[in-house]
Amino acid sequence: MTTHRPVLAVFLCLAQLVLPAAASADDKPVPIDEGLAKKGEGVYGRWCVSCHGALGDGRGYSAQWLEPRPRDFTSGIFKCRSTPSGTLPTNADLLRTLKIGFYHTYMPAWAVLGDAQLYAVIEYIKTFSPKWKEEAPGTPIVIPPEPPNDEASVKRGKSIWKNNQCEKCHGPEGKGNGASAPTLRDDWGFPDQPFNFTASDKRKCGATNVDLYRTFMTGVSGSPMPSFGDSISQQDAWDLVHYVNSLLLPPNTEYPIAEHY
Ligand code: HEC
Ligand code: HEC
Repeated sequence: MTTHRPVLAVFLCLAQLVLPAAASADDKPVPIDEGLAKKGEGVYGRWCVSCHGALGDGRGYSAQWLEPRPRDFTSGIFKCRSTPSGTLPTNADLLRTLKIGFYHTYMPAWAVLGDAQLYAVIEYIKTFSPKWKEEAPGTPIVIPPEPPNDEASVKRGKSIWKNNQCEKCHGPEGKGNGASAPTLRDDWGFPDQPFNFTASDKRKCGATNVDLYRTFMTGVSGSPMPSFGDSISQQDAWDLVHYVNSLLLPPNTEYPIAEHY
């Protein structure tokens, strides 16, 4: 038997390379790297504390003037994830968010800090919520190849949009002015505006078709924007991507102010 051990070891190493790095919801939490978090504390104190606060509760000095509010990291809730609704994001998800920032909000892009500082500050953010000590990040969803973006797909997407009541929040033409829009609040009790698809193609969780597919299937946690991962098929999600993109109007279109996001 001993002769088989190296073979097994090689197999396990290969399996680790091939399998997704993130654990599933039942997996053990990944211990926080205290040394890295300590480095991140310095980055946080220099660049993040004014908005996210010394306790990570989103109540920094500048927070009172901002809408949406800076994130309260004690909740362990993140909007942009490759992982299913209700699970923690992967480090790669957080790195991506930090590099790009959140369009249409005061959350800046931090690519200039470089990956090493960003990974450190990500580790530090995890120390604010007990969730990171109790749960492993979710397993990223699998995104199938994109089918053709043609008229038929856009047409199907329109009926999926109607059937799933997207217009209740986003409005019949996708202008972010649906009947429920004025009443929507985020998990922290602050107003949360549905996206206006006619005015911008820049979105918080990414603007490519793959990003949009992922947003439909994992949702925008902490906001009223649901995850459709359990209710629509993969083909439906791609048709929706094509439909939603078809709503964008030319950049010089004039809008009444209230319809701007
Ligand atoms: C000028 C204010 C401001 C500064 C400075 C700032 N943020 Fe933010 N940040 C925000 C706001 C506002 C949001 C919430 C936007 C939303 O929920 O739509 C946010 C959200 C986030 C999120 C949540 C992402 C998700 O998927 O939900 C993370 C992570 C984050 N910030 C990390 C950082 C880090 C790390 C720094 C420092 C390097 C930083 N922020 C600096 C304002 C700021
Ligand atoms: C209950 C209200 C509600 C419904 C129903 C809803 N949304 Fe949303 N949606 C929101 C809100 C609120 C936001 C803004 C979330 C945020 O940025 O905090 C949003 C944001 C989005 C975004 C932008 C995400 C980003 O990365 O910035 C997309 C895309 C989207 N919705 C598509 C859809 C589609 C397609 C449907 C129907 C299948 C739908 N939504 C149904 C409320 C809703």
